[in-house]
Amino acid sequence: MPSTHIPSPLQVVVLAAGKGTRMKSRLPKVLHRLAGRPMLGHVLAAAAALDPERVVAVTGHGAADVAGYLEGTEWASARFDIRTVVQEPQLGTGHAVRQALPELAGDGTTLILYGDVPLTSATTLRALVAASAPTEHAPHGRLALLTIELPDPTGYGRIVRNASGEVLAIVEHKDATASQRLIRETNTGLMAVPTRQLRHWLPRLRDDNAQGEFYLTDIVAMAVDDGVPVAGVAAPNPTEVAGVNSPAQLAALERALQAQIAQDLLEQGVRLADPARLDVRGTLTCGQDVEIDVNCVFHGDVTLGDGVRIGPHCVIGNARIEADAVIHAYTHIDGERAGVSVGAGALIGPFARLRPGAKLGREVHIGNFVEVKNSTLANGAKANHLAYLGDAQVGERVNFGAGSITANYDGANKHRTVIEADVHVGSNCVLVAPVTLGAGGTVGGGSTITKHTPPGALSVARGKQVVIANWSRPAKAPAQAPGQPQPDAPGPEA
Ligand code: UD1
Ligand code: MG
Repeated sequence: MPSTHIPSPLQVVVLAAGKGTRMKSRLPKVLHRLAGRPMLGHVLAAAAALDPERVVAVTGHGAADVAGYLEGTEWASARFDIRTVVQEPQLGTGHAVRQALPELAGDGTTLILYGDVPLTSATTLRALVAASAPTEHAPHGRLALLTIELPDPTGYGRIVRNASGEVLAIVEHKDATASQRLIRETNTGLMAVPTRQLRHWLPRLRDDNAQGEFYLTDIVAMAVDDGVPVAGVAAPNPTEVAGVNSPAQLAALERALQAQIAQDLLEQGVRLADPARLDVRGTLTCGQDVEIDVNCVFHGDVTLGDGVRIGPHCVIGNARIEADAVIHAYTHIDGERAGVSVGAGALIGPFARLRPGAKLGREVHIGNFVEVKNSTLANGAKANHLAYLGDAQVGERVNFGAGSITANYDGANKHRTVIEADVHVGSNCVLVAPVTLGAGGTVGGGSTITKHTPPGALSVARGKQVVIANWSRPAKAPAQAPGQPQPDAPGPEA
């Protein structure tokens, strides 16, 4: 029975100093996004699930950007204490972990992760850490390595075992003999090491090898010499231990992760028109009988209530959509920080745009080319065509006509428009805020409303229609022969 005990304190070192030359990017490799989140964020999320006491990120290339990310909103409030050290120059993985040593306190286990290996599950990490725990036979704990058998192990460190299967060493590909290169069990680079031993071994690393680097992997032979048992823990699948060195590898992992997310949704009962044409870059929470058509992108936190249907080609971020609402094709919803909420049974789109602070009640209808920002629409309100509602409070059953807008911005400040219940705003109206339209009132089409309108009234504010009877339209002048001067032709305007 493998132990599930996690030795404490647990500390985590994340190697993130590498340049990532093959990314051909100015952004440090570990900040490239996978499912909308920097790779380093995925690594930290998995580590966080183990409740570590401290995380030390070893930075180098782009150190300021990486530190900036870690200080940002996502991890600043983490329960663990997070620190960064700078490794300059980068002299190998062993040298990298050595930079973190002064930040590692006390005993327990140190889990070593790579910032560019983003998809290791917390379950796998937990098994690795548990394998390093002290036992009766290993009172100082074990050196636990995460390994994987690869059909083509070229480039990887090989796990060298003796005849009885005990791990003796890791030999890097470039230092390996021809027979060692036949070994297909490779080092993923992730390991859990008793902290006290790590402190003892790291200063003894040497760089007399094919790459002139301080190899972290050399601590395996040191452990064997010191009688500290070495445990190999097999990774459950290649995706969990895949590293990213190039945009192609990043894209491949993105597809693998998206396929997994789609599979999970299908298993929950979400009906995806095509699991290969869905992208979730954040958290998508779905109720029962949710249908999602092809090519939708979800980002941030999105919740879809029971029976919600999402048409094809929608982009939806940071929104809460209540039961039975229908979002038609090509709708763009982004709540950013303020969020967007769509009430039960609402009909949105096609081609609608809901921006931060759009709060729509039950059975609201928002049609094509309608934009709503920072506005509340009460139950049953409708804006079906070509409209803008910004900084507005719209009452129940209001009908907001085609082409009408709230003029909420005077060039310096934003102002509110209040449209009380049952108001009917005709087509092509401009409501110049601040303004209030009293309940049950009607605004004639083409009006520019600058003053409050009383409840129940018809308000019209436009030029009166002029009628001139029997008007004959100007006639076209007869065509001239080409090249003929035209004495009365108008010249260019001065
Ligand atoms: C390493 C392992 C190898 C393993 C392979 C798995 C060593 C000596 N070799 O090889 O056994 O099979 O990973 O991918 O450990 N890094 C630093 N500072 C450095 C060097 C590296 O922070 O000075 C970071 C890199 O950014 C990267 C990780 O450590 O995240 C691994 O470095 P990399 O150069 O990819 O190691 P490999 O030579 O591939
Ligand atoms: Mg590598």
